[in-house]
Amino acid sequence: MDKNFYITTPIYYPSARPHMGHAYSSIIADFFARFKKIDGYKVHFLTGTDEHGLKIQRSAEKNNIEPLEFCNQISLTFRDLSKILNLTNTDFIRTTENRHKVSVQHLWNELIKNDEIYLSKYSGWYSVSDEAYYNDDEIIDQEGKKISILSKSTVEWIEEESYFFRLSKWQKPLLDYYLSHPNFISPPSRKKEVISFVESGLKDLSVSRKSFSWGIPVPNSKDHIIYVWLDALTNYISALNYPDMNDLLFKNFWPASLHLIGKDIIRFHAVYWPAFLMAAKINLPLKVYGHGWILSDNEKMSKSKGNILDPIEIINQYGVDPLRYYLIKEVSFGNDGNISQERLENCINSDLANNFGNLCQRVSTFAITNCNSRIPENISLNTEDLVILNKFKNDLNNIRSKIDEQDINFYINYIVNALFEANKYFNDQEPWKKKDDLIRLNSIVYTALEIVRKISFMLYPIIPNSALKALKIFNLNEKDIIFSTIDNYNYLKKGSNINKIDILFKKVEKNND
Ligand code: ME8
Ligand code: MG
Repeated sequence: MDKNFYITTPIYYPSARPHMGHAYSSIIADFFARFKKIDGYKVHFLTGTDEHGLKIQRSAEKNNIEPLEFCNQISLTFRDLSKILNLTNTDFIRTTENRHKVSVQHLWNELIKNDEIYLSKYSGWYSVSDEAYYNDDEIIDQEGKKISILSKSTVEWIEEESYFFRLSKWQKPLLDYYLSHPNFISPPSRKKEVISFVESGLKDLSVSRKSFSWGIPVPNSKDHIIYVWLDALTNYISALNYPDMNDLLFKNFWPASLHLIGKDIIRFHAVYWPAFLMAAKINLPLKVYGHGWILSDNEKMSKSKGNILDPIEIINQYGVDPLRYYLIKEVSFGNDGNISQERLENCINSDLANNFGNLCQRVSTFAITNCNSRIPENISLNTEDLVILNKFKNDLNNIRSKIDEQDINFYINYIVNALFEANKYFNDQEPWKKKDDLIRLNSIVYTALEIVRKISFMLYPIIPNSALKALKIFNLNEKDIIFSTIDNYNYLKKGSNINKIDILFKKVEKNND
């Protein structure tokens, strides 16, 4: 069986430069992509920018530039960020690209052909900030303004001729689908929320707009442009060359393994998107995971609150791997998490510098000095060595299934424990006291080196650069990182060279004022 894995991030609005929330989704997606890659999967990893709609048109107007020029500039900052974050994305899609337009118009025509779309008139509430329609009961008055209860964004009343998608007819099929595919929406709290929204009744969805022009035209209906969410969601298949369903990309990677998104856009991904796909007779993605929010000062970041965190500032100060590590370890995945510089510094000093960095340094330095810079050959492993070496073996399949449940918390805790045990093992075995029993000394060094290798392999999806630096001890490169080999306690080639490595993490000086 082909082992293919297709993971996507949301395509972000280039209405403003990227912030920590965007970095978070992208880093998590990269974690999964890298894990699957070292576990032998062919991985397609898509990210990009969502460039049409009134939100973008208005942002461009505010800046006095043409929408496309505006998007060109800001989309580039997202593309740059993906490099700075060290993402392994295999594509970056912009919805203003022709490949995407063709695909969206084709999907539209399919929906027309299947009688899923009809012309009528829309009147109701619309949030430009969310590019979303809301029902009356989803709106409240706040200081004379109407806002969405869900997102707190202001809404405006619109009335115009519009094409409608027969969403109401998909209410029952959607509910049946959720029931027969219990893992389709994760985590469970999000699934409950979606099911109760769908159970409360679905109205047909307005899928075109007439009163502005920045979007993909409705085929054969020149006054209308396609609703930006129908446009945007299609990116997941337009990037696979839909409508050419015989294209290798489409064949290998659709349906997607995982749409990773924030909880703010779960409704679009778990209700509208599967309904569009069912209506167009296209297979549904396997899973939609809505993660929590990164909070700044315990609130969601927003321009109006002025609490936007810039990932690039943090990276300039601390480096990209510490940020990746911090976001993966300290935000309990699935829940909201507050960002704190102090906790980030603690992660660097204790987990990265003291636990991982120090283990790599002291074990490799000890081996260089006492084992002639070679992986010991003459060894005889005792029970204690074998227990710690075999620990990984018994956990391999469990780790894989935790990854498939997006249980990142399990994965990182596993590593933190392994690091703790490894440091304890080296301390307890006291190889520096075994200089008159070389076989024992060699065996301890061999065991500790194997564990450094295993932990570095496991850390690679989280802190790729640092893991690779650590693996220089053994002359191992990226292509040598194969998850299934952590099962093997006999992996390191005995007698081969051990290299001295640079300090992996500099401790942060803490000042307490
Ligand atoms: O919604 N914490 O784009 P967007 C965690 N274009 N994640 C956050 C976050 C935060 N504070 N803020 C943003 C859109 N995100 C649409 C998507 S997809 C077909 C179209 C992340 O720029 C999170 O993944 O508003 C969230 O869902 C996404 O950015 C929203 O980005
Ligand atoms: Mg948003």
